[in-house]
Amino acid sequence: MKKNKLRVGIIGCGTISRTHADCLKRLPHVDLVYACDLDLNRARKLAEDFAIEHVAADYNDVLADAQLDAVSICTDHASHSPLAVAALSAGRHVLCEKALAADNIQLAEMLAAGAAHPELVFSGIFQHRFSPVFLTLRDQLAAGVFGEILTAGAQMRCYRSPDYYRSDRWRGTWAEEGGSVLINQAIHMVDIVAWLMGGVASLAGTYSNQTHGDVIETEDAAVAVMRFNNGVLGTLEATSSSHLKWEPNVFIHGTLASVEVRHDKPLKVLCADRTKTAALLELLEAAGSRPNPAIPGKDYYGSGHAAQIEDFVDACLTGRAPFVTARSAAHAVEVVLGVYAAHHSGGWISINKQQGEG
Ligand SMILES: NC(=O)c1ccc[n+]([C@@H]2O[C@H](COP(=O)([O-])OP(=O)(O)OC[C@H]3O[C@@H](n4cnc5c(N)ncnc54)[C@H](O)[C@@H]3O)[C@@H](O)[C@H]2O)c1
Repeated sequence: MKKNKLRVGIIGCGTISRTHADCLKRLPHVDLVYACDLDLNRARKLAEDFAIEHVAADYNDVLADAQLDAVSICTDHASHSPLAVAALSAGRHVLCEKALAADNIQLAEMLAAGAAHPELVFSGIFQHRFSPVFLTLRDQLAAGVFGEILTAGAQMRCYRSPDYYRSDRWRGTWAEEGGSVLINQAIHMVDIVAWLMGGVASLAGTYSNQTHGDVIETEDAAVAVMRFNNGVLGTLEATSSSHLKWEPNVFIHGTLASVEVRHDKPLKVLCADRTKTAALLELLEAAGSRPNPAIPGKDYYGSGHAAQIEDFVDACLTGRAPFVTARSAAHAVEVVLGVYAAHHSGGWISINKQQGEG
């Protein structure tokens, strides 16, 4: 049944919850009614700052409210799947932060719950898909502006201090974060390059812990070579030990044009026919400089949360699919888990075969 207003609860009231709360509060068709956190003080703080009526420590109390329509899951990676399964089984739409899950079993369980409830909207956050640059790039690729694609790839060079990893219990653990720089930071650009290329078919890769050995058990560096579903070859590089604070890159080289995008803006553009370079650069620069709403959060989150949360709410109210379905958001998790698996097997991993494996 279509509704005019969506009653939403946020589960997990840490760093990213403030971005979700702010975006939800801006929407006229949303009542943000619950702030839920195992740490009730965190829930109370979010409720106070964003005028949220109810607080809860136990998500079951939130799901027990028959008037609730949807939840936004903003907890650590390993808790996403059980929370999403519980919410979907209770008939609630679900928006879940990245990375959807910390391992393949959790991922399969939450996707199965979503598939069992096709009447519900189940979306995974990848806010950079709403970046005007990547949307424009996708249109240009589809229009053949790049010609035949030769290579494509993604890089995440960032710095994460020991204090960052120590700030929350779940960070830097295989059990709760599911990895580190690859599954947490690089996953955004893994998703973008995989989305632009139509998915990753297979990969080989490895990881190491170079400078955080005494702080985390997971990786602070990872590299991979990939073959995309369209046959194109690609590379992936991630480090959280860089002197560069935050440098997310995506590059694509085609027979007719090359592009490199950094921070959701075109860094380099060159066409084989040089007379076409200025026009392509101008198109991408115009997209990259569109004004963004000021929302709480770090600069590098970008502004895509506002657009994605609005899309999710509209999908719930109108009964359509969200722009980023959970199934589509799961692919980047399969890719990063594939890199970890390739490290251990020493061989190539087929990503589709990864689906649902432990
Ligand atoms: N999209 C982005 O750009 C972006 C940016 C930052 C974080 N994130 C993602 O958001 C998620 C949360 O990250 P964060 O930095 O806000 O973490 P955080 O540690 O600051 O907050 C997580 C909160 O969840 C609570 N929690 C855990 N399990 C719970 C449960 N079962 N019920 C209720 N509360 C529970 C914890 O008590 C904690 O307060 C992660 O998946 C992270 O990767 C995404």
